[in-house]
Amino acid sequence: MRQVVQDRQDARTRIAEWRGKGLTSCLVPTMGGIHAGHLALMERARAVADRAVVSIYVNPTQFAANEDFDSYPRCLEADMASIGQRADMVYAPVDLYHPSHATQVNPAGAALGLESEFRPHFFTGVATVVLKLLNQLPTDSAIFGQKDYQQLTVIRQLVRDLDLPVEILDHPTVREADGLALSSRNIHMAAEHRAIAPQLQAILRRTAQQLLAGTRPKTALVDGRDLLRRSGFTGIDYLQLCNPMTLQPTEAVTAEARLLGAVHLGAVRLIDNIALGDVK
Ligand code: PAJ
Repeated sequence: MRQVVQDRQDARTRIAEWRGKGLTSCLVPTMGGIHAGHLALMERARAVADRAVVSIYVNPTQFAANEDFDSYPRCLEADMASIGQRADMVYAPVDLYHPSHATQVNPAGAALGLESEFRPHFFTGVATVVLKLLNQLPTDSAIFGQKDYQQLTVIRQLVRDLDLPVEILDHPTVREADGLALSSRNIHMAAEHRAIAPQLQAILRRTAQQLLAGTRPKTALVDGRDLLRRSGFTGIDYLQLCNPMTLQPTEAVTAEARLLGAVHLGAVRLIDNIALGDVK
């Protein structure tokens, strides 16, 4: 098992030493609660670079006061055991922010709409912490999951807009056998809700099939929302067809167009998405 690095200067020095030896590195930022989705990202990092770095930090600035910051899983020992030899360095700072931290990154563009309608603070917190992590851990590349598709798009935009010298890679969503996307928050789901949860992916797929079969987007989305409601989700934040680059709502039914959904099951909020072309 790897030793945890807490100090940003130590982490930086190790990455610089690797670079000095001609070795490339890839960063996998996480908030811990490590599951097979995270592990797949680490394996991909190892495949594209000589060294894989994992960061574990539950970032307070991406949670609103009423959200689950306090109950978010914190289990560094179990996380380290799960990571095993998949990472060459695990960076888990106690606090990433200076006590008088006063700078925020406010992304617009792809950050507008969808998640931002319901979690207006979220992408400012994500963009700020990801910029800090990329600066503290100057790896050649960093990898993010398609599971959080809007987050991935916002990070690509951040890197492009601010000329960050890092390549952003992405990885498909890792799912349970019944289709539910793995998430650190799934452990909080009650058994009766866990039984309903796979319907999110199933309804995304069904809606995609309807769109591909020629149903008008407006009709297919109304049907999809209706089906979500009838499946037992306790709240529906959105079900939207979007341009995959800008995340603007679109009526263009292309293989790349992205269908994104966010729903509630009691206290747990689930998000998922698919490209229309992913549906066989
Ligand atoms: P976290 O939710 O821990 O996710 C870390 C990374 O794992 C993200 O890139 C996310 O998209 C990816 N991921 C999560 N579940 C996945 C799954 N089922 N399949 C594939 N990839 C999956 O996302 C965050 O943390 C934070 O917002 C962070 C980027 C670390 C900034 O704090």
